[in-house]
Amino acid sequence: MKGIILAGGAGTRLYPISKIYSKQLTLIYDKPLIYYPLSILMLSGIKEILIISNEETIPQYKKLFGDGKHIGLSIEYVVQSAPNGIAESFILGDKFIGDDSVSLILGDNIFYGKLDFIYNAIKNNKGATVFGYQVTDPERYGIVEFDENGKAISLEEKPKMPKSNYAVPGFYVYDNEVVNISKNLKPSARGELEITDVNIEYLKKGKLNVEKIGRGVAWLDTGTPESLLQASHFFGVIEDRQGLKVACIEEIAYHMGFIDRKQFEKVISEIPKSLYREYLEKVLKND
Ligand code: DAU
Repeated sequence: MKGIILAGGAGTRLYPISKIYSKQLTLIYDKPLIYYPLSILMLSGIKEILIISNEETIPQYKKLFGDGKHIGLSIEYVVQSAPNGIAESFILGDKFIGDDSVSLILGDNIFYGKLDFIYNAIKNNKGATVFGYQVTDPERYGIVEFDENGKAISLEEKPKMPKSNYAVPGFYVYDNEVVNISKNLKPSARGELEITDVNIEYLKKGKLNVEKIGRGVAWLDTGTPESLLQASHFFGVIEDRQGLKVACIEEIAYHMGFIDRKQFEKVISEIPKSLYREYLEKVLKND
């Protein structure tokens, strides 16, 4: 299973900061936003990762993660020349995906809590697996409708009259068919290759599995200044209470066995003196 993080887009709702840097680099409490989706892929055991973004931002991601080797990953990068739609990920990622299956996570989506729904989807996926999460503002998302047996029967992107309150979050698991399906998509009225249209294709073929996510999981949206502040507060409270970091990619790499103790020591030694380094030193000492 390969992993793609889509981390481009204009981020204009965050103007003026969007003039100079990408939303996915914004600080969520104590680390850049993109650490959170990256950590989800890592916790799922995915080590081959492609980051897709615009030309200006790719060099910054490269500065952050390099080729990923130091944390036991293989990270590649591809430029998306314009925000042509989420499904373009599979066209741009064609070579990277090869004959494999692939999970896509949006670079501004954060999941926290019991993540078994993701791990199980990756382990058991046949065709496509996406999720349904109850929200109060369904017109902002891709929406899934279920029949009385809990089977998905329709999907719509940002419907004016939503048929349910179940939004489809930005984490998707696909078999290799997704590349062909995406290549045959037509742009929507807003000129994008829609991820919802990919999911509709799978639904038509009877190969779409939609799992409802329960209330024990937080799915945070980070598109606006308020939601960024909320996410920072949320993780600040949790980290402060437990003394444990969320989405600390070096710690995850070590605990997942992607790197051994020696490599972990080396990674720590290369981090400048900071609270982040002190935390990792504590992890090493207590292990
Ligand atoms: O967050 C979940 C929702 O994400 C889904 O429920 C929707 O079905 C899906 O279309 C998407 O809706 P958004 O309106 O949130 O998509 P947005 O255009 O904001 O893009 C999501 C992220 O992906 C954003 O951080 C920018 C990035 N992106 C987006 C597009 C369209 C790219 O990097 N390239 C793109 O071409």
